[in-house]
Amino acid sequence: MSGPIGVFDSGYGGLTVLKELEKTLPQYDYLYLGDNARTPYGTRSFEVVYEFTLQAVTELFNRGCHLVILACNTASAKALRNIQMNDLPQMAPEKRVLGVLRPSTEQLGHLSRTKHVGILATPGTVQSGSYTIELHKFFPELKVTEHACPMWVPLIENNRHDSFAGQLFLKEDLDSLLNEDPQIDTVALACTHYPLVKDYLTSIAPKNVQIIGQGEIVANSLKEYLDRHPDIENKCLKNGNISFLTTESATIFEEKASTFYDREIKAEKIKL
Ligand code: DGL
Repeated sequence: MSGPIGVFDSGYGGLTVLKELEKTLPQYDYLYLGDNARTPYGTRSFEVVYEFTLQAVTELFNRGCHLVILACNTASAKALRNIQMNDLPQMAPEKRVLGVLRPSTEQLGHLSRTKHVGILATPGTVQSGSYTIELHKFFPELKVTEHACPMWVPLIENNRHDSFAGQLFLKEDLDSLLNEDPQIDTVALACTHYPLVKDYLTSIAPKNVQIIGQGEIVANSLKEYLDRHPDIENKCLKNGNISFLTTESATIFEEKASTFYDREIKAEKIKL
């Protein structure tokens, strides 16, 4: 039986990825799951991020998804490999789980002229070192500098990123990254929340530095994946419907989601 494409995030941030998926692939049905009751993941251990992510993937499989996208960078960095290698073969060998790291790292090296790139992400993603490891698989010559921005997710979740104090934090972290390696000409926003501050970062970054969001890259990569995998593509429902699940209050999710997704939505609360 066909099912929607599952999109998982620790909270609201994955809505920025969902928005791009919808734009590029509007024909599919999507089932979004935000683990808002246990967000943020960015400061949690490998063990816990893996445990929570596996629960979410299992739930989305049980609800009919054949393909699940981990829209969360932290979950992609800390849990995806384990799930793909150890859990999927036993649990659902015919189903697929994909993350956001691979599509981004496949592209980043092509975008930099100096071959010096910067990664802005949550402490968890930076601590995993996954971006550097993945980037070096495709571009061994690349100089990669990762910088953790612990304040950005709370600022964005609380809609304070545009405030004077919020912008000071954003500038401080961008400056730290660029001071660490002044040859960086490409900065990747490696967290679901960061597209919301992309315009501000672009406005304060030196002219020779480009700020790259992930959503569009992930959407194009999913399009190519579905073209290459008709067995999975055939199992994806195509009515253009989108549903939302959250582990926190549905009312709060519906209200707060508007910061990330410019449309009114209806959500259902579930337990994982
Ligand atoms: N979704 C997370 C990520 O992309 C950010 C929020 C969190 O820390 O849970 O890394």
